[in-house]
Amino acid sequence: MTVAPEKILLRLHVNGSAVQCAAHPNKTLLEVLREDLNLTGTKHGCEMGHCGACTVLVDDEPVLSCLALAIEAQEHEIRTVEGLADGPKLHPVQQAFAECGAAQCGYCTPGFLMTAAALVERPGVPTNAVIRDAISGNLCRCTGYEKIIEAIALAARRMEEAATHA
Ligand code: FES
Ligand code: FES
Repeated sequence: MTVAPEKILLRLHVNGSAVQCAAHPNKTLLEVLREDLNLTGTKHGCEMGHCGACTVLVDDEPVLSCLALAIEAQEHEIRTVEGLADGPKLHPVQQAFAECGAAQCGYCTPGFLMTAAALVERPGVPTNAVIRDAISGNLCRCTGYEKIIEAIALAARRMEEAATHA
């Protein structure tokens, strides 16, 4: 019989807030976000690193949370889809996804939004080739990807425009 390890106190920094929870040390970041912190926007897909549905940002870089241990994320800044909007103001990638019709069933969308946010928050406007490369680890069964690419390009142009007029 296997004995589950004792729970430990995890101290995480998620969407700008310090949070704590008691969890088994072998839990993935995906499991802790969804099951212990009730942040269910991050989706549970393949759990094998193949679909990108679980993508979150760790220190502004996209990370597959199904392959990361929560315990190892303790010293880092985690962003999930719940932290993208600024109050009622959507993040530019959320706004563009809505305008371009880049979500259908929506299951893949949080992962795409996080990957896209990391890309468009960097200076400059990425080419479609760069966008395709950035989202190559995110799978979508519904959209055919074209509207997603269009939405990311639109968000990137808007962010660049906003930065030049700031
Ligand atoms: S659930 Fe993490 S890559 Fe599929
Ligand atoms: S919108 Fe359905 S899987 Fe992407």
